[in-house]
Amino acid sequence: MSSQTYLPTSQAYDLWSSVYDTDGNVLQQLDDIYISTALPRWNTLKLLEYGAEHVLAVDNSRGMLEKLVGKLGGEGKVEVFEVDLNAFPSGSGGGGDGEKGFKKALEGRKVDGVISTLVLEHLPLAAFFSVASSILPPTGWLLLTNMHWDMGNISSAGFLDTTTGKKVKPVSMNHSKEEILEEAGRWGFAVEGEVGETGIRDEEHARGFGRRAEKWVGVLMHVGVVFRRV
Ligand SMILES: C[S@@+](CC[C@H](N)C(=O)[O-])C[C@H]1O[C@@H](n2cnc3c(N)ncnc32)[C@H](O)[C@@H]1O
Repeated sequence: MSSQTYLPTSQAYDLWSSVYDTDGNVLQQLDDIYISTALPRWNTLKLLEYGAEHVLAVDNSRGMLEKLVGKLGGEGKVEVFEVDLNAFPSGSGGGGDGEKGFKKALEGRKVDGVISTLVLEHLPLAAFFSVASSILPPTGWLLLTNMHWDMGNISSAGFLDTTTGKKVKPVSMNHSKEEILEEAGRWGFAVEGEVGETGIRDEEHARGFGRRAEKWVGVLMHVGVVFRRV
């Protein structure tokens, strides 16, 4: 019997959401470091502290959105929408309430920036960048993080469901640096600064990331980049 189950992405994340923040995933820890140290003023929660007028949050997993709402502790300046980015902006997914609500919330509003952390792995590049360019006006910024292509060559997102003992895997596709930058350019996005590539350097470094980090020593795992829409 296979020890892996492949599920549609939203179902996989609905399950994963119960342990997503606590299961010691190394890539997520690297992502937190990138977001909170390299670019503090663009961290979603910090955006509110720094006086952002309004934050719109989208995801197509209800479980993940519920976790976010819990973390925000009822912060009224964040609106949350269940949206499948594969179907947006064309609305080919039938345009559920979340999608309609998100489109309405965007009406008449100038979006300054978009933050997308560890989502790109689950989407075709054109689908992702078409959404970002439909939301962002010229000069808007896009902070994008993803699983590094080196890690993606040997792995993909997934978690251990302790109730079944099986590894649950959502839909995943590996994107190379060249493919990401080329598609971004097609949709009018230019890199600001450098493309940051990080991983677990050595065993000492691994110790700070818990027991799951040792197997990743020497592998680039995380990529972070800021684009400006030109
Ligand atoms: C690795 S998690 C990252 C979650 C969060 N951004 C973070 O960094 O903690 C990937 C997220 O992408 C979302 N996702 C994947 N495919 C999506 C799609 N087609 N539309 C909207 N969200 C999607 C999943 O539901 C999941 O919450």
